Amino acid sequence: MRKARVVSGQANPLRRFHADGVAKAAFVRAGFFAIAKQYDRLTRVFSFGLDGRWRRSVIELCGLHPGDRLLDIATGTGELALAAGRRVAPAGLVAGLDFCQPMLEEGRRKGQDQRGSHLAWVLGKAEELPFHQETFDCVTMGFALRHVLDVRATLREMARVIRPGGRVVVLEFTRPERRSLKALYYLYLFGLLPGLVWLASRDRQIYTLTRYFPRTIRHFLPRERLAAAFAGAGFGGVEIRPLAGGVVSVIAARKRVRVRAFRRETDRRGRGLGPREGAPGLLA
Ligand SMILES: C[S@@+](CC[C@H](N)C(=O)[O-])C[C@H]1O[C@@H](n2cnc3c(N)ncnc32)[C@H](O)[C@@H]1O
Repeated sequence: MRKARVVSGQANPLRRFHADGVAKAAFVRAGFFAIAKQYDRLTRVFSFGLDGRWRRSVIELCGLHPGDRLLDIATGTGELALAAGRRVAPAGLVAGLDFCQPMLEEGRRKGQDQRGSHLAWVLGKAEELPFHQETFDCVTMGFALRHVLDVRATLREMARVIRPGGRVVVLEFTRPERRSLKALYYLYLFGLLPGLVWLASRDRQIYTLTRYFPRTIRHFLPRERLAAAFAGAGFGGVEIRPLAGGVVSVIAARKRVRVRAFRRETDRRGRGLGPREGAPGLLA
């Protein structure tokens, strides 16, 4: 029998959780479905309370101005989308896209208190974005690139919907380079965290996920291959900034500008946010 393969080209090291790509999407969606209400709290625990600071770095690197349009892919409960919404208000627009409706609903609920921001919550897949090309000035993604089915298809889609010269900023868990820190970090991720989560929740699905997440970090693309994947998708000036000793990294790049693109740029502001044919609708 042929072994299932992952995007990195290795045999699937996570087959204990999902056998192939289709099973991975279903597993990931069901997992976030189950933890949608606890997600923000779990992320705080998972990140030692540093996630807010890491997200602020992402928003700074986006270099947003009032009036800009931003897409936050795999937005989850919308933390990045909401922060971006405050920066681009009142004329700008932020779309948060996710394939898990309960996560999106959490984002929408939080967004109701944020007057003055134009926020749209869109049900859809990262690998097939339901937007016209060159719709956005900036695209972000937080802690989700290692969860998508196809990293390269996702990066190509990001490049398609960003205007030439526009920015992509991705936040992702990575592996620390210092061996001593990596050992401590793995001890926390694989040893301490699942036990603590089990004691706090007594929930088998949440426990399974806290055993799954560390493995997705251990088996995700290393930084240099990530940089190459961004370059291959059409991004230039790829910069990877490790934070907290490399526990997470922020990857920032710009969509390459081609000469023909300058003309299209001039009427960019006149375009609508219309979904492509056959695309799922806006939630709000
Ligand atoms: C760890 S959460 C991150 C949420 C948010 N970006 C943040 O910074 O907290 C991962 C999110 O990615 C979404 N997701 C995973 N794969 C996806 C895909 N292929 N298309 C759309 N959303 C996806 C999940 O539903 C989940 O909400």
